[in-house]
Amino acid sequence: SRTAAVIPAAGRGVRLGPGAPKALRTLNGTPMLVHAVRSMAASRAVSLVVVVAPPDGAAEVRSLLDAYPLTGHDRAELLVVPGGESRQESVRRGLAALPEDVTTVLVHDAARPLVPVETVDSVISAVRAGAPAVVPALPLADTVKQVEPRTGAATGEPEPVVGTPERALLRAVQTPQGFDRRTLDAAHEKFAAFATEGEGATDDAGLVERLGSPVVVVPGHEEAFKVTRPLDLVLAEAVLARRRA
Ligand code: CTP
Ligand code: MG
Repeated sequence: SRTAAVIPAAGRGVRLGPGAPKALRTLNGTPMLVHAVRSMAASRAVSLVVVVAPPDGAAEVRSLLDAYPLTGHDRAELLVVPGGESRQESVRRGLAALPEDVTTVLVHDAARPLVPVETVDSVISAVRAGAPAVVPALPLADTVKQVEPRTGAATGEPEPVVGTPERALLRAVQTPQGFDRRTLDAAHEKFAAFATEGEGATDDAGLVERLGSPVVVVPGHEEAFKVTRPLDLVLAEAVLARRRA
């Protein structure tokens, strides 16, 4: 029985603005994807990392990663497979590449390059303790409103508010999300037809919930934030600089 990490890295990063695919953009000189791979391999429990590359970029990603070999405590086997049109489809392709003996799977966004190993290990521990699906998450700082979305929301057209869920009951979820491998395989198999961008699940635990299986939350970490918009790059580089100081 082994633990593997699947890293979806096939997105273009539209919200980050023009440039290379998001996972290949650098943070203080090192590609975001390299940081993400290292943060999974840093866990002693993880012996295999499967990177899901842009659909036509698997060879390029393979040679990029070969320039940053995993050594010492971070040593892990590395596979690179091509991704799909949506995150859900990319994860499904990563799962398909896992060998038979993998029983615990982490799914980790390449866009969360700085997650600390303590968070990775606590997710793995909770899965090994018997939870079929485990999600790291934090309480929200902002109050959240449900609205009636207007298609022109980006233009600033006002949107009617429908309600305000009680903030104390909400959590913002991160990755790595950890799973019993059979549970996650079953969820992705069952909902594969709904994997198109916009319709597919935005996280893997959501598919397990739809399957009717239990999902639990464990404490996440501020440094596991997702690099989504340009300001997030500034924050990520500052976090790295602080670590090295
Ligand atoms: N992802 C993927 N395959 C896709 C789309 C997304 O593997 N077809 C991955 C991204 O590479 C990222 C993770 O899913 O590591 C989380 O997605 P997100 O932050 O939305 O990244 P992008 O889709 O690249 O960004 P955007 O939505 O701004 O285009
Ligand atoms: Mg996206």
